Amino acid sequence: MTRHFLEVDDLSADEIVAVLDASERSAYPALLAGKGVGLIFEKPSLRTRNSCEMAVVQLGGHPVFITDAEAGLDRRESVEDITRVIEGYFSVIAARVFEHRKLERMAAVSTVPIVNLLSDDGHPVQALADLLTIRQHFGRLENVSIAWLGDFSNVARSLSIAAMMLGMHMKVSTPPGYGPTAQDMERFAGLAKQGATFEVCETVGDAVKQVDVVSTDAWYSMGQEEEKTKRGDAMRPYRVDATVMGQADPDGIFLHCLPAHRGEEVTSEVLDSPQSRAFQQAHNRMHTFRGLLTWLCE
Ligand code: CP
Ligand code: NVA
Repeated sequence: MTRHFLEVDDLSADEIVAVLDASERSAYPALLAGKGVGLIFEKPSLRTRNSCEMAVVQLGGHPVFITDAEAGLDRRESVEDITRVIEGYFSVIAARVFEHRKLERMAAVSTVPIVNLLSDDGHPVQALADLLTIRQHFGRLENVSIAWLGDFSNVARSLSIAAMMLGMHMKVSTPPGYGPTAQDMERFAGLAKQGATFEVCETVGDAVKQVDVVSTDAWYSMGQEEEKTKRGDAMRPYRVDATVMGQADPDGIFLHCLPAHRGEEVTSEVLDSPQSRAFQQAHNRMHTFRGLLTWLCE
C-alpha cells in the first residue's frame, strides 16, 4: 500500500523517530538516482521549496518545481488527472495547497507517496523539523513542554499532533476564537501517548511559566491577509518578547517556523537571541525532508 504523509499521524510514533534518526545520518544514500520528485506550489515559499529541492539533490534525485500557474489545479485540469499524469514521472509528489482536501484527492488516486508541504489545516513537514530541533537541544522529546502563543495555526496543529504522539506537553494561549477547535481537542486526546498533556491556558504567563520551548507563528497565514488588522488587534497581547521568554525555563528555547514578522508575533530581541533556534529549525527543514524521503523510498 502506498504510504502518504498528509499529516504527522500518518506515521506512527516509532516511525517519526525513525525519520528523525534518518535525518541525522551523515552519509546520504543515492536512493533517488535517476528519479524525480514533483513539488507543486499553490502558495509562495522560501524554506519549503529550497530545502525540499536540496534534499532531493542530496539523495541523487531531480526535483521539479511546479507552480499552480502552470499546473492549474482544478482549473486547467482536475487534481486527480494531474496526479494520474505526474505519478508516471515522479517517485514522490509533494504539494503546498490551500484546501487540505486537494491533498486527500491526490492521495486517493496516487500510486506514489503524496506529501503535504503545507495546507490550510496542517504543516507536517514543518513539525518534523521542529521535533528534530527540540531533540537536538534537549536530547529527548518525551516530557518536553511547549508553549504555543497567538494563532493556533496549521503549524500549531501539526506540532500538537506530534507532541501528543511523542509524550510531550502542549500549553496553548490564544485569543478567543483563534484556539484549537473541539474537533482538534478530540483528535489530540485520541492521539495522546501516556504522559502527554494538552492544556488550554487562561493567560500567557500560565503557558510559558518554566516551559522548555516557546513557539509562535504569524498572526495571519497565507490567504488570511485581509484579516491582518483584526487579527493584529486580537493577537498583540500574545507577542513573544523578552519578558515572555524570561518566564520560560532558563535552558528554554524559542522556535518559529518563519517567515517572522519582526515586532508583531515576535520581537527581534527574541528572534536574534541565543535562545532562538529559528534558523537552525529552518536548516533542519532540509535534513528532515531528506529523512522523510529516505523513510518513504528506502
Ligand atoms: N516555514 C515555511 O514553511 O516557510 P516557507 O513558507 O518559506 O516555505
Ligand atoms: N501559518 C503560516 C505558516 C507559514 C510557513 C501560513 O500558513 O502562512
